[in-house]
Amino acid sequence: MEKQTISVIGAGHVGLVTAAGFAQLGHQVLAVDDDQQKINLLRQDKMPFFEPELEGLVHRGVRSGRLSFSTRIKDAVDQAEIIFICVGTPSGNDGEADLSFLEKVIAGIAANLSAYRLIVEKSTVPVLTGEWVKYTLQTLGPKRVPFDLAANPEFLREGTAVFDFFHPDRIVIGTETERARNLMARVYQGVETELLFTDIKSAELIKHTSNSFLALKISYINAVSRICEKVGADINLVARGMGLDRRIGTKHLNAGIGYGGSCFPKDVAAFLHLANRVGYDFKILKAVEEVNREQKLLAFSKIKNRVGTLSGRTLGVLGLTFKADTDDIRESPALEIVRMLSQAGAVVQAYDPASGTAAQRTVPALKLVSSPYAAAKDACALLVLTDWPEFAGLDFKRIRDNLRSPVIFDGRNFLDRERLVALGFQYLAIGRPSG
Ligand code: UGA
Repeated sequence: MEKQTISVIGAGHVGLVTAAGFAQLGHQVLAVDDDQQKINLLRQDKMPFFEPELEGLVHRGVRSGRLSFSTRIKDAVDQAEIIFICVGTPSGNDGEADLSFLEKVIAGIAANLSAYRLIVEKSTVPVLTGEWVKYTLQTLGPKRVPFDLAANPEFLREGTAVFDFFHPDRIVIGTETERARNLMARVYQGVETELLFTDIKSAELIKHTSNSFLALKISYINAVSRICEKVGADINLVARGMGLDRRIGTKHLNAGIGYGGSCFPKDVAAFLHLANRVGYDFKILKAVEEVNREQKLLAFSKIKNRVGTLSGRTLGVLGLTFKADTDDIRESPALEIVRMLSQAGAVVQAYDPASGTAAQRTVPALKLVSSPYAAAKDACALLVLTDWPEFAGLDFKRIRDNLRSPVIFDGRNFLDRERLVALGFQYLAIGRPSG
């Protein structure tokens, strides 16, 4: 297998996993980030964020001598033939993708380009960004230094990012030249999956359409959950019955308090913005956003209706992150619900296995406690807002005895309803009969 020299600009969730993953595949990798503190931590063998299995992967890369770190874009351009761009593309005005980090990186690459480089967009970008990147490199870069551009969108999920890197369902590679195609094929040698070669625009579009479609599945099942509530059906059984049809699939079909995180909300908004820009009224996607917005309000009303007045009432909360197995609270529906409850005067005492102080900075009134049992202590209801597996295995007898009244809200529909009802709980969920 032919080894490549690769640099990865941006050492966030995508960039760091990608850099360490390529090093494990045998390539020589430089991870670059302008955040000096992050690079210092990495150089001291410390992780800047929590992601299962990442620490071991990074340490192995560093020990093998194949993974190193820098804060300088110049190093990224000088030391590698292939440059992956993995910087953030947050939501800007009206949901438009804010490409300012990307713009800065492209200018930095152009300023240092002195020999052929393959520049790869891995950051999530709206379709047509590649055209602008190419034009910018041609305008700002030196004349007569050749380069290629590729779009290689990333599909890894937080919480399972390392597994996803080595076991992807597919690798999408948009290129314009044979040389770029050959280099990209070599980069991914050793990963068993289908490589789908496309043009750059199609590759860019595949990322936004995939995330938006997954968000659509979630909003669809959440909308159906409302019908379930009206007719007394169980959304978990409906979703299972639907999902067993392989054309539909069981994944991303769990009803709950809505989707969050650093990807779905911003990518749906950016895709809507792009559609609008090119003159298409993307009605389905607007509905996806709308259902997701309402889902959090519905959860809040459900809790309020059961508890009665919220002012001065103590509520226990389990889970603050946007999903399980991460410490990420960005666009967390759990935290949004906590914020609404606090604003309505409730005293919220919360436990989360991974996120603490960051959540408290976002909702200062939040009282953090150190165990699920402490969260339940003297509360008039326990709200389970993130599906951390450890929550399903709690001693619910102890939880019940700690609560002032045995009310449990299962915001992710993953607890054992029958067992909880048998223990004397009043069980509330999303689209499931209450008990
Ligand atoms: C998502 C995609 O799944 C990845 O393929 C993609 O690479 C990534 O965005 C990205 O663009 O970087 P991620 O945000 O880590 O990954 O999380 P997901 O597991 O997809 O969950 C997103 C949200 O949907 C979470 O709030 C989760 O709780 C919620 N969700 C997920 C549901 O409410 N129901 C489900 O059935 C599945």
